[in-house]
Amino acid sequence: MVPSIGYNKTRTAVFISGTGSNLKSLIKFSRTAKSPISIDFVISNNSKAKGLDYAKKFKIKKKVLNFKNKNLSEKELLSILKINSIDMICLAGFMKILSGNFIKKFKGKILNIHPSLLPKYKGLNTHERALNNKEKYSGCTVHFVNSRLDSGKIILQKKVKISKKETKTSLAKKILAQEHKLYPKAILKAFNL
Ligand code: GAR
Repeated sequence: MVPSIGYNKTRTAVFISGTGSNLKSLIKFSRTAKSPISIDFVISNNSKAKGLDYAKKFKIKKKVLNFKNKNLSEKELLSILKINSIDMICLAGFMKILSGNFIKKFKGKILNIHPSLLPKYKGLNTHERALNNKEKYSGCTVHFVNSRLDSGKIILQKKVKISKKETKTSLAKKILAQEHKLYPKAILKAFNL
């Protein structure tokens, strides 16, 4: 990624589906002087996503698109992103899979955070699978998005130790706390900062 010239930050949209704790941490980061991005739009596929409250709280435009018809939703999405001059996308707990055609339009400009040490545990139920496999470590990964699920170039990872008494809830909580720190760091790295 190349930082925009001069004062302007790269206009970014964050896509969410649920709680939006990563959205919150990204908004906070985006408002610091060192951030190369501003967050100008929040997209959710779920009208009940708690994360939408952060858009309201921080006065960021938002739109819910249900993705029931992926083609139609993505068409509308592309037009919203264009009208709002969005140049980068951060997926943050977004549980829909974007089409290859959509990804092509934002080639190299979509980042995702995933709650495992990729390439291990792509997809869903990462914590449960890591525990069932008696892993000693798990963690989180920020990567570029390509057309294969959770397979794009890795930007940064953070490892966490799995304790003897770990449950999937405690592991999710532990990893989420690291995600909030990792995503901003990965954005700086993606911009070579
Ligand atoms: C995070 O743990 C994120 O890594 C995960 O969903 C959670 C969202 O939390 N994402 C995925 O599983 C994507 N496949 P948040 O809504 O509080 O940011």
